[in-house]
Amino acid sequence: MAKEFEPVANWLNKAKHKWFNKAIANEELRSLIRENRQEFETLMAYYRCALMEVETKFNVLNEEFSLQHNRNPIEYHKTRIKKEASIIEKMHRRGLDVDLETMEQNIFDIAGLRIVCSYPQDVYMLADCLLQQDDITLIERKDYIENPKPSGYRSLHLIVEVPIFLRNEKRKMKVEIQLRTIAMDFWASVEHKLQYKQNVDPELAERLAAELADCAEQSAALDYRMQSIRNKITKDLEDFPVEDPLIGEKR
Ligand code: GTP
Ligand code: MG
Repeated sequence: MAKEFEPVANWLNKAKHKWFNKAIANEELRSLIRENRQEFETLMAYYRCALMEVETKFNVLNEEFSLQHNRNPIEYHKTRIKKEASIIEKMHRRGLDVDLETMEQNIFDIAGLRIVCSYPQDVYMLADCLLQQDDITLIERKDYIENPKPSGYRSLHLIVEVPIFLRNEKRKMKVEIQLRTIAMDFWASVEHKLQYKQNVDPELAERLAAELADCAEQSAALDYRMQSIRNKITKDLEDFPVEDPLIGEKR
């Protein structure tokens, strides 16, 4: 094949593979759910409960920090339960059998929570506070802030186990937590759009990816400059704790 067609052929192959996997996934999903509807829905409800538990833990930390330091480390957060079709597609990709036990033991991002802060320091502070809690077990920690992905992606990923208390049993459930700054979140949402755009010319996609990687670098530099400014302001306020109406109460 002529060299200039290779990127197009690769892209077509990838698209075909994705479509094929999705088609199988949907079929398997339907039969899985048909045969185990009750168990599947119960398990999904447990994941929702686990998300509520972890969400509350972060709300409590945010509240406590607000009381002690007069500012909120969490700007916003989002929760999501992975769509059934995506679960099955992932299991296919990993060559796993499609059954509920294998799903629970191998897919760790069914329940997902994203915590968005203003500053990188707060990301680490919140992660540490959560991991110190004695009912939380750390399963996996991936620091893509310290070691960004080649794409430029930055975030701190934690997989934790949290107990949920049911009528007659205590059950440990896995939750994926992604902690990042507003700037990292903005970058990830723009880059995500490029990943899922079907009809972008491969050459343009390559150029955009390089530009995005550069944006990620600049954005990270800005995060740390803003953090350094914040730290200086906070320190000055601590040295001279005057309630200046122009500065406002919040630090
Ligand atoms: P997955 O099969 O994607 O779950 O891979 P994994 O289990 O190795 O997890 P990974 O550490 O790669 O992080 C997975 C999640 O992080 C994804 O579902 C995205 O939400 C996010 N993520 C990871 N890499 C990127 C990236 O390059 N760009 C964007 N926008 N998001 C990313
Ligand atoms: Mg994932």
